[in-house]
Amino acid sequence: MSSSPHPVGVDFGGSGIKGATVDLERGDFATDRVRVETPQPSTPEAVAEVLAELVSTFDDDGGSPVGVTVPGVVRNGVVSTAANIHDSWLGVDAAALFSRAAGRPVVALNDADAAGLAESRYGAARGQRGLVIVTTLGTGIGSALLLDGVLLPNSELGHLEVDGHVGEKYAANSARETHDLAWDEWADRLTSYYRMVERLLTPDLFVVGGGVSKHADKFLPMIDISTPIIPALLRNKAGIIGAALHAASG
Ligand code: BGC
Repeated sequence: MSSSPHPVGVDFGGSGIKGATVDLERGDFATDRVRVETPQPSTPEAVAEVLAELVSTFDDDGGSPVGVTVPGVVRNGVVSTAANIHDSWLGVDAAALFSRAAGRPVVALNDADAAGLAESRYGAARGQRGLVIVTTLGTGIGSALLLDGVLLPNSELGHLEVDGHVGEKYAANSARETHDLAWDEWADRLTSYYRMVERLLTPDLFVVGGGVSKHADKFLPMIDISTPIIPALLRNKAGIIGAALHAASG
């Protein structure tokens, strides 16, 4: 339970919905993280119900804002792609649905964009000028483009075509697991993937997040590209912190 006015960040993922209040001065959780199972199937109504329960565990102390991540394109609160979530999300105004369910204002943004905002403000890309691309390697590949710390939302670079495949089907962490790839085999695929992004956008820095980034020493050194590439710092906290940051700045 929190009695602070800190914003709440919620990370909606395939297996869990996790939330915490965030201290924006420190860029860290102000209260312990609360986790609930993602309902199956993860339809908008089912997720909204669970989310409202989770949000109610944090005091609405003076209307502290709430931000929620969604693993798809989100424009003005409306979800318009659903690559790794239930199709019934397409066209749903997630911000309006969550606000109604929680009984307080909720904003929604893409999950990788939230991670990117957090890494840019508090993590591996802090103070970095120029173009930073934060990628999250998980079930899919999420991407966030930040120019001098300003986010260009919904870049969706996980869907670029690489070696004749959809990038995330070929090079996400789920592809490594499904095809039982050795670290060096996966690094070869990631090399193709990041070279494609390099050719398109010539970034100054890549930051690699997602749960697997805790094993960065096993694969990052083998990614053969010319742009500096470093692991994310905030790991699985990045989505929650970025969502809270976005809510507080909206
Ligand atoms: C979705 C992105 C999302 C990424 C990571 C992709 O399949 O299209 O919106 O950021 O997965 O969850």
